[in-house]
Amino acid sequence: MGKSSWKLLFLGFMFLCLNVRNSVSRFVVEKNSLMVTSPEKIKGSHDSAIGNFGIPQYGGSMAGSVVYPKENRKGCKGFDEFGISFQSKPGALPTFVLVDRGDCFFALKVWNAQKAGASAVLVADDIEEALITMDTPEEDSSSAKYIENITIPSALIDKGFGETLKKELSGGEMVNVNLDWREAVPHPDDRVEYELWTNSNDECGVKCDMLMHFVKEFRGAAQILEKGGYTQFTPHYITWYCPQTFTLSRQCKSQCINHGRYCAPDPEQDFSSGYEGKDVVLENLRQLCVFRVANESKKPWVWWDYVTDFQIRCPMKEKKYNKDCADSVIKSLGLDGQKIEKCMGDEQADSDNPVLKDEQDAQVGKGSRGDVTILPTLVVNNRQYRGKLEKGAVLKAICSGFEETTEPAVCLSGDVETNECLDNNGGCWKDIVASITACKDTFRGRVCECPVVDGVQFKGDGYNHCEVSGPGKCKINNGGCWHESKDGHTYSACLDSEDGKCQCPQGFRGDGIKNCQDVDECKEKKACQCPECSCKNTWGSYECTCSGDLLYIRDHDTCISKEAREVRSAWAAVWVILIGLALAAGGAYLVYKYKLRRYMDSEIRAIMAQYMPLDSQSEVPNHTNDEHERA
Ligand SMILES: *[C@@H]1O[C@H](CO)[C@@H](O)[C@H](O)[C@H]1NC(C)=O
Ligand SMILES: *[C@@H]1O[C@H](CO)[C@@H](O)[C@H](O)[C@H]1NC(C)=O
Repeated sequence: MGKSSWKLLFLGFMFLCLNVRNSVSRFVVEKNSLMVTSPEKIKGSHDSAIGNFGIPQYGGSMAGSVVYPKENRKGCKGFDEFGISFQSKPGALPTFVLVDRGDCFFALKVWNAQKAGASAVLVADDIEEALITMDTPEEDSSSAKYIENITIPSALIDKGFGETLKKELSGGEMVNVNLDWREAVPHPDDRVEYELWTNSNDECGVKCDMLMHFVKEFRGAAQILEKGGYTQFTPHYITWYCPQTFTLSRQCKSQCINHGRYCAPDPEQDFSSGYEGKDVVLENLRQLCVFRVANESKKPWVWWDYVTDFQIRCPMKEKKYNKDCADSVIKSLGLDGQKIEKCMGDEQADSDNPVLKDEQDAQVGKGSRGDVTILPTLVVNNRQYRGKLEKGAVLKAICSGFEETTEPAVCLSGDVETNECLDNNGGCWKDIVASITACKDTFRGRVCECPVVDGVQFKGDGYNHCEVSGPGKCKINNGGCWHESKDGHTYSACLDSEDGKCQCPQGFRGDGIKNCQDVDECKEKKACQCPECSCKNTWGSYECTCSGDLLYIRDHDTCISKEAREVRSAWAAVWVILIGLALAAGGAYLVYKYKLRRYMDSEIRAIMAQYMPLDSQSEVPNHTNDEHERA
């Protein structure tokens, strides 16, 4: 038997193993929703299967107009050969190209359409069947070159629906559809659980290169998400097992550990040279144990450091893919090597390895997730991710797994921006002067939302207007109010304390927003009108001068003498007191005089009454007595 037939036989075993173990093997096709919005008679929602390459807009949606090319209907050749372009005219809906299945790889059809300017591709199935996932060719280095560069999303639609679309298009109808990925990942709560089915093998060609590149690139975001408690990530590794009858064969011995229980394909697919399948199984097991040990010490994200460091420091190419090299990485990351050894167990034992047993069990589909058969596979909230394994695209998928508004900041970062704000500001409100905009790029597409700038809130509909409100608003573009500087003075119509209106400052008149005009106080306010005054209007105020050496008192709008002012008033006070005192003394004197006279009068009358009778005689003795008693 030649090498290649051994290889085929062995791959056959492994396939068999999976199917035997899981009597109901399932592969779940991840779907997005395709909504026909016009023409009226075929309006409605259809399922379509997300292609496993390109960049599906997880969490978002996309509207387009369907075009079915007149030639090259399978899209297997470049459309430029036929003079066909799908570039949509400015202002028109993007073009979704409809192509037929068959004759070449799905990815090639999508690549050709993308090159011709398509924004998305719908592939119509050619047989009546349930939807399948369009995958990339496994081993094909010529296609690998363009697959990397596919950025548009693609979806497979069933044959019947494809024919409906074609019929409408041939009848001259304009067919508009909306591709929607918003429900492609469930988003029940504020934590996303995701898992990556990966492999430590670095020599399997295009897919391994892509996976390694992804892990390196995604590490930063993964660690931010994990450290923030936003996600719970678990790495997984696929293993196969050798059927009982072959466990003692050379092939099973070189590919498997634990007596044929856990196997991996030979990295070079050559049993006689280089690394063997069991080296890969062992390193996979080590990586699982690194995760378990790191997870126990509440630092699960260290796994990302280990796998990237191992990739860099211990590649197969340099013959460093071994235990010694792995141990040095473990040591440099401060991980407990002994715990990891213990977790890995004995590879020679004729018994189950609990860690790998768990992995084989996890491979079988549960709930909405199908069996894991493709490597790499990313599962987000228990749904298999479809599309390119690329940082931005994966982050979008993970982010769309958060309940809306609970997504962490990394989801609103540059990596997942749709850049819709760059074009015409996304149609949102914008203040050109202060370059503040209500357009916010998110992975869900742009939103028009009045911003918060330097802690100051803008309020409004976000589309036509936003205005600052609340404390601190005058800091931002002067609160949208009038302000001007002139002759070294600056005036503003913004009142920080008032919520709402702009108001021209004192000395100005106007709407407070666009204009405030200086009031001529000299003419209009009757300021500075005393006889000695001379008035000069200034911007925002006025100046008043007094003739001679008089001084202008603004509060009283009058002129007074500069020197005597203080002295005079002091003297005035003294005079007032003196006069007061004099008056009081005079009064007291008069009273005294009056009383004295009265007394003298009554004495004289009493003396006189002894010599002659008087008219009022009867009263006299009383009076006299009275006065004497008092004296
Ligand atoms: C893919 O993109 C890269 C970089 O943008 C470019 O260098 C390469 O030529 C592209 N490949 C193809 C097949 O267009
Ligand atoms: C990691 O730790 C968390 C709790 O700290 C636990 O719920 C989870 O099951 C652990 N994962 C694995 C694979 O051990």
